[in-house]
Amino acid sequence: MEQRLRLYKILVEEIATCTRCRLHESRKNPVPGEGPVPSRIMIVGEAPGRREDEAGRPFVGQAGKLLDKLLSLAGLTRREVYITNVVKCRPPGNRDPRQDEIAACSPYLQRQVQLVEPEIIMAVGRIAGATLYRMAGLRWRGIRAERGRLVHGAIAGRRVGIYPTFHPAAALYNREVLPMLEEDFRRLGEILRGGRGKSLLDFL
Ligand code: URA
Repeated sequence: MEQRLRLYKILVEEIATCTRCRLHESRKNPVPGEGPVPSRIMIVGEAPGRREDEAGRPFVGQAGKLLDKLLSLAGLTRREVYITNVVKCRPPGNRDPRQDEIAACSPYLQRQVQLVEPEIIMAVGRIAGATLYRMAGLRWRGIRAERGRLVHGAIAGRRVGIYPTFHPAAALYNREVLPMLEEDFRRLGEILRGGRGKSLLDFL
């Protein structure tokens, strides 16, 4: 087996038995992430919800169905992208993950970035955006200011584009968010099409 896949398998096994924060006590299943390794595009959400906790897979609930539709606006299918979350275990009652939980889980996301080698990481929602900006040493000014802007930074020693947008779940509660999410995914598609044969980083 290729070295990259060997390391990826070890990472998934570590996440499966992780006890680095309190979230392991209440999880049914850890949700490491899924998709091609390597992959040009990585989607990073916040944390597993109830459906994801039951399935051990990311974005399988309502927000995931909307994510699939949004990906199609970018000309992508779920099978073509690597999908994960900032924290790999469900916070009880779907509360926001706490800073110490994010800090305990961040080394896993950094190792995923090293192994998946994405050119663009799409950060969905303010927690993913703020976490990835912090990892890259960038200043986060809030989701409304940062959404739809491709910025570059280095995460785990790798140069990547970070592209924040709203969380799909936000559009399920707040209808004014949906057109902005759609715009951001269409723009991702334009960047990808324009970038054929070129490095996506030329668009930064
Ligand atoms: N919301 C997230 O942020 N991630 C999931 O996997 C599901 C819902």
